Amino acid sequence: MKKLFILGNWKSNKTMEEARVWEQSFMPDIAGRTQDITIIVCPAFHHLTLFANHKGRYALGIQDISPYESGAFTGAISAAMVKDMVTYTMIGHSERRKYFGETDELVSEKVKRALDAGIRPIVCVSEPVQAERLHALVPAFSESGLILYEPLFAIGSGTSDSPENANKTAGFIHDIVPVPILYGGSVTHENVQGFVREEYLSGVGVGGASLDPKKFQALISAVV
Ligand code: PGA
Repeated sequence: MKKLFILGNWKSNKTMEEARVWEQSFMPDIAGRTQDITIIVCPAFHHLTLFANHKGRYALGIQDISPYESGAFTGAISAAMVKDMVTYTMIGHSERRKYFGETDELVSEKVKRALDAGIRPIVCVSEPVQAERLHALVPAFSESGLILYEPLFAIGSGTSDSPENANKTAGFIHDIVPVPILYGGSVTHENVQGFVREEYLSGVGVGGASLDPKKFQALISAVV
């Protein structure tokens, strides 16, 4: 049975108090599961300290990482600064590419810093060519990376891609970079099962539906 990943991406949301309430009420019911499922919660950087007591119920990730080492890079969070707190880092989300001008070259530098620090990179792509460039720029990515495939029209729109289409694109990507591929874009507890059943999809990335702990739990229960 394939290993599955369920990633919650909070994006730029939640005060400390809201994050604390979420952390206290999030109790994923994964008892009795037969499937190997890794839940990855990606809050904002400053929330990470609230998660000291999650005790292995789920893994933690960060939403972005500096392309530089630690040092005189004001405002940047380096991989070395967070490597004791997180197992994963998202890199190159389409919102980073769109609003912060991130290029494939910058994404590849971030991937290198993550790999150097022993943090598993989850690179977001919206088309297979981005995976192709990533593979060319950082061949080592395929040793421990994951890809989150998110078609632009589906992000935050309430209209997901069809599982069949997403699987087809994931198949193309998998031929280029043979790593676990997740689908993201308007995933909810109602449609998640269709995606995780597909051959080339090893899980899902969840934005909006991860902000409410009960909705996120319902989505996880649907997979379990
Ligand atoms: P969404 O976001 O689930 O709100 O569509 C997904 C994402 O951008 O990771």
